Amino acid sequence: MDMFMVEGGHRLCGRTRVSGAKNAALPIMAAAIMSSGRMTLQNIPTLVDIHSMLKLLESLGVMSHGPVDGQLVLQSIDQSKFWADYELVRKMRASFCVLGPLLAKRKQACVSLPGGCQIGERPVDLHLKGLAALGAEIKIERGYVIARASRLKGAKIDLAGPHGSTVTGTCNVMSAATLATGTTIIEHAAIEPEVVDLGACLNKMGAKIAGLGTDKLIIEGVKGLNGTIHRIIPDRIEAATLMIATAITGGDVILEDCPTSTLTSVIEKLKAAGVNIEHVTHEEVPVSDKTFIPDLGLISYEEALAETRNLAQNTHSIGKVRIQRSGILRPIDCTAQPYPGVPTDIQAQLTSLLTCARGESHVEDRVFMDRFMHIMELNRMGASISKQGNQVTIKGQEKLTGAIVMASDLRASAALVLAGLVA
Ligand code: UD1
Repeated sequence: MDMFMVEGGHRLCGRTRVSGAKNAALPIMAAAIMSSGRMTLQNIPTLVDIHSMLKLLESLGVMSHGPVDGQLVLQSIDQSKFWADYELVRKMRASFCVLGPLLAKRKQACVSLPGGCQIGERPVDLHLKGLAALGAEIKIERGYVIARASRLKGAKIDLAGPHGSTVTGTCNVMSAATLATGTTIIEHAAIEPEVVDLGACLNKMGAKIAGLGTDKLIIEGVKGLNGTIHRIIPDRIEAATLMIATAITGGDVILEDCPTSTLTSVIEKLKAAGVNIEHVTHEEVPVSDKTFIPDLGLISYEEALAETRNLAQNTHSIGKVRIQRSGILRPIDCTAQPYPGVPTDIQAQLTSLLTCARGESHVEDRVFMDRFMHIMELNRMGASISKQGNQVTIKGQEKLTGAIVMASDLRASAALVLAGLVA
């Protein structure tokens, strides 16, 4: 059995670098299926999920070299493959991101439905709705999505779901639309930085996507996509988790490559809880030259692009940040929401932090209503957390105690490691 043993009671001090974003890297790797040339990806994080995606891509005829020092080279060499097997997809939901690229480039896709998930119900209806709107014939047979289209056609698509837009659904539909004939407009697109990073990479490959970073994307289809070199953005979830690790242990840490502009809501909450966060240095990094379109109603794609170049919000700020906590932790209330709100991927880690605050905190998750597997485990370590629907009340206290706990999903497991650091 895989196991972490954590000895609590040590302040975290020092300096570390934030890795590349997993949730940007995985759909960008899937985009290699659509590229006629070589893709060189930099800042690829060292994670099991990256290797799972490489295995899946290999089964789909994409050759890889690396990652070596964070650099990964991908090249699609066999266009005849279109079967994404259950054994490979079930390990990681992001595998479903191969559906749009396969359909757009190879005209057909047979991708296993991802199945159950530790963080609650995770349907893919919006992915399928978007691809069907582009003209794909889709059926579900024996647990597989079988999709076909001789050539996808641009369409107007609304990706709004009951809990906001869909991140990987936007990735799938946006990717597929780059190779459709004509223009696609995606309304209620996800605006998460990882979607913007995928769009920026696709644009470098020759796609014509405008509106990245807004909830309205306009995509003019192109005949083909080339290879490119792309550096993956730093991981905002890893950065936030490291900030919380510093805060929970009363530590003093410098984080390099910290994507502060994508963490505004988390930083605001941590400051309210009594954590000092200050920039040591920072630089503005261009996200894409096509990030914002004010009104797509009447303007052409070219006019829309010209508009975007005039607008200034096309940069991320990335830099060195110092995190310190010496005083008591104060209780706070927070709600996990789609970007730019507090991410659901940080909800569990914040809950661990607030078990050490002096007073009562409330945390709500509006994206995944059942994402609370960590609560009972934290209570086994001495926390006092009660749940009402998609909200929890945390009665903060000073002492957690070590225990054997069960890790469920990725972020809940991180939350338990954080609790272990102070138990
Ligand atoms: C992505 C992230 C995940 C993060 C989540 C929310 C990746 C690889 N994973 O997951 O880490 O927690 O975004 O920020 O990027 N929904 C539907 N129908 C659909 C799709 C989703 O109703 O077809 C619902 C979901 O149940 C959920 C909400 O929409 O309530 C958001 O889910 P979604 O953005 O799709 O999450 P993922 O893309 O799977």
